[in-house]
Amino acid sequence: MLLVLGRRVSLSFVKRVNPQDPVLFSKPILLNFRTNIFRVIHSSTVFASVTRSNYTDTMPERRPFVRLPTDVYPVNYGLSLKPDLIDFTFEGKLEAIVEVTLATNQIVMNCADIDIITASFVPEGAEEINATGFNYQNEDEKVTLSFPSALQKGSGTLKIDFVGELNDKMKGFYRSKYANPSGEIRYAAVTQFEATDARRAFPCWDEPAIKATFDISLIVPKDRVALSNMNVLDRKPYPEDDSLVEVKFATTPIMSTYLVAFVIGEYDFVEAQSSDGVTVRVYTPTGKAEQGKFALEVAVKTLPFYKDYFSVPYPLPKIDLIAIADFAAGAMENWGLVTYRETALLIDPRNSCSSSRQWVALVVGHELAHQWFGNLVTMEWWTHLWLNEGFASWIEYLCVDHCFPEYDIWTQFVSADYTRALDLDALDNSHPIEVNVGHPSEVDEIFDAISYSKGASVIRMLHNYIGDEDFRKGMHSYLLKFQHKNAATEDLWDCLEQASGKPIAQVMSSWTKQMGFPIIVVNQEQQGDDRILKISQKKFCASGPHEGEDCPNWMVPVSICTSEDPGCTKLKVLLDSPETTITINNVSPDQWVKINPGTVGFYRIQYSSAMLESLLPGVRDLTLLPVDRLGLQNDLFSLLHKQADMQEEKNRIERVLGAISAPDLIQKVLTFALSVTSLAVISDLHNVCCHEDVKDETNAARELPLHCSVGLPFYAVVS
Ligand code: BES
Ligand code: ZN
Repeated sequence: MLLVLGRRVSLSFVKRVNPQDPVLFSKPILLNFRTNIFRVIHSSTVFASVTRSNYTDTMPERRPFVRLPTDVYPVNYGLSLKPDLIDFTFEGKLEAIVEVTLATNQIVMNCADIDIITASFVPEGAEEINATGFNYQNEDEKVTLSFPSALQKGSGTLKIDFVGELNDKMKGFYRSKYANPSGEIRYAAVTQFEATDARRAFPCWDEPAIKATFDISLIVPKDRVALSNMNVLDRKPYPEDDSLVEVKFATTPIMSTYLVAFVIGEYDFVEAQSSDGVTVRVYTPTGKAEQGKFALEVAVKTLPFYKDYFSVPYPLPKIDLIAIADFAAGAMENWGLVTYRETALLIDPRNSCSSSRQWVALVVGHELAHQWFGNLVTMEWWTHLWLNEGFASWIEYLCVDHCFPEYDIWTQFVSADYTRALDLDALDNSHPIEVNVGHPSEVDEIFDAISYSKGASVIRMLHNYIGDEDFRKGMHSYLLKFQHKNAATEDLWDCLEQASGKPIAQVMSSWTKQMGFPIIVVNQEQQGDDRILKISQKKFCASGPHEGEDCPNWMVPVSICTSEDPGCTKLKVLLDSPETTITINNVSPDQWVKINPGTVGFYRIQYSSAMLESLLPGVRDLTLLPVDRLGLQNDLFSLLHKQADMQEEKNRIERVLGAISAPDLIQKVLTFALSVTSLAVISDLHNVCCHEDVKDETNAARELPLHCSVGLPFYAVVS
């Protein structure tokens, strides 16, 4: 049984693909779909298709939802927490400076699984008013504090004393179990607030657009490490108990509640200064500091990369990256204190394979990108989450490619995110990247491979369409204009439009607001020295064309290269209609023409037989780049099952694929693929072939990114 787009998968499945990490999947799998994708890519044992129908069938009905009232908003949270790592409870004191914009005798805040003991309001320069009632709306995760008289317009301090449980649900403020080096079981207290779980640690305005500063203090056992978003200002004995200390952290910049974090536990660390003066630490389980060195190297390279790329400095004095024993997601970008699943941060220098190092580099690159894109400029509402995650899922590759060019990481992107997104988005029950989100329970639903992998793929296409220089200009003005504020998807399109002079909003909404993608059908004709291409678009559906339905159109950036220079785009056009004719000047009859060099466009291509045949020499002599051969091969396999005349298709594909990969392997693939009708099996076969291709390409030159698992189960099936 596979559930949601690869994010929630059956334990039997994940256990099989995850030999490195026995604890990983013995827990509920919440948010680690990218971790799973990674695992899937590093295995070819997956012979099941994922559809969204079983997902939508079981989806709860949309609940009514209203955002918090705006008559009272926070300016600063003074928050003190005292966790008890034996009873698994915590005590909290909140002193929030708030602004009342409209006189009211009640304050509505988010609050879940917390008991409020006392609450009062102190208007600036006036008498304290005790709250007379706390009305919990549990379904809505809110509490209404009632006051006997109206709180007048102006500033005041809201004081709340509360208690909560250090839960075992890996959300909110929770306990994480670990064994210390001598094997004793211990617990750390950890937070995971995204998307809407800060309200489980303290009463707050838990919406991304309600930003405030935070002054955090933690009262903890004196032998424990205590971390939060900012640097420590003071660590002093706690007067009421000499086994405890009070750790006070510096004031944060204005920020959203979902990015607040604290960790209390036993950790070692390695430290370095990045060239731009930021103190970087990687915290590891005690005795494993050496395993943090690789992530430290990545972080120290990554921070200056983003600073240069965005032309905006990292705004905090420090950043900590910490490996947490029990962690639901792969990693979380809390500002200044990034939390990771252990396998996404730690590298054993003696035993880890290069694919693990690549994964750590990507995850660190992803979370550090959020420090700007997400943390400094935050989405206005969860509807724009796809942009947050899609952008970080694209730029993590740009960053890793810059820091570790030897990884050839873009080939991994094509073979992982891009092809996966195409496969999923071709299903009838896919969904648009951008979906309206209301109730918190819906937020979790949209963290799926469409947000991440299609999101990253369309940003990659956009970057290619705009060009790096204008893209950077647009990013810089977006980050500058909205820093310490919130923005919507359209705000980014506006900035990129200004920087490039291109119709970005129009182009992008065709990709984000409608599900699916087109197949580009291409025919060619030689006219003297010119090559005339007839190109048309129609929706690509894995289940075949849907007769009688309106055919959607996309605004498709199409680029074209020729055998004269296979690595270089000769012509770019924007296909904004169902079909068009393009003239490419000065292409001699013996040259081949290829669409989509670099495999950056989010579409499939169906060439005429003659065009496909003409590409064969480029495939054979390897002048077509690996990502281009990968894209070609992937398109052909996805088209295979749709062809009525299987024999003709078999011959055609055999010739091209035979040249791309080892011929005897392809023979087996085709014999097997053509003997079955299941799309799932065919698409799994093409995954295997793509990886085999990459493996052949890279085998001699360097350590293999995919060496652990490619191919073997497949041979077992076909032989
Ligand atoms: N912000 C997310 C983590 C997250 C998502 C937390 C949804 C809570 C709800 C983080 O930036 C992320 O995307 N993490 C990925 C790993 C990453 C390398 C793609 C994850 O956890 O799978
Ligand atoms: Zn992310």
